[in-house]
Amino acid sequence: MTVELRPVTRDNFRAVIRLEVGPDQDGFVAPNVVGIAQAYVHPGSEPFAVYADDELVGFVLLQPGERAGDHVLVRLMIDHRFQGRGFGRQALEAAVDHAAREHKAEVVRLSFVPANDRARALYLSAGFLETGELDDTEIVMARRV
Ligand SMILES: CC(C)(COP(=O)(O)OP(=O)(O)OC[C@H]1O[C@@H](n2cnc3c(N)ncnc32)[C@H](O)[C@@H]1OP(=O)(O)O)[C@@H](O)C(=O)NCCC(=O)NCCS
Repeated sequence: MTVELRPVTRDNFRAVIRLEVGPDQDGFVAPNVVGIAQAYVHPGSEPFAVYADDELVGFVLLQPGERAGDHVLVRLMIDHRFQGRGFGRQALEAAVDHAAREHKAEVVRLSFVPANDRARALYLSAGFLETGELDDTEIVMARRV
């Protein structure tokens, strides 16, 4: 199964908005319609649809960071029907690769709600480390690329 990031376009944006996390995960991420709106107002944003082969399974939002060399993974979600199959991990790696290759990023940052144990486990095992900072109430992690 090949996991790819493809741009959100006028052809797929409605389907991206229909993607949903599980009912117990609602507090962990904003709905994708908010992510697409964030991309509209933040210069340099890249909203991506995550495809596993040709099936739409998730959403990623990347933005330039405030510090030179930083890139931020603002959003990562896999629809509840497709979770637990390795797509989240592959989408995360694809996002880091994209930031490194296309933006010469040196560091990728992200943050997560403290109760989100699944996201924490994924990020730790992918080499992200806590920076000790909080973004609002969210725990900030970073990885050198
Ligand atoms: C977090 C999320 C992106 C992970 O995507 P996924 O496709 O389900 O995860 P993967 O199948 O790639 O698994 C990656 C890791 O997640 C963890 N994980 C997967 N399923 C899990 C489960 N049922 N319970 C706990 N941890 C689990 C494991 O650490 C796993 O590592 P492994 O590959 O060594 O087993 C996805 O669950 C999601 O969209 N959650 C809701 C939105 C969210 O919380 N996004 C992150 C916000 S910061």
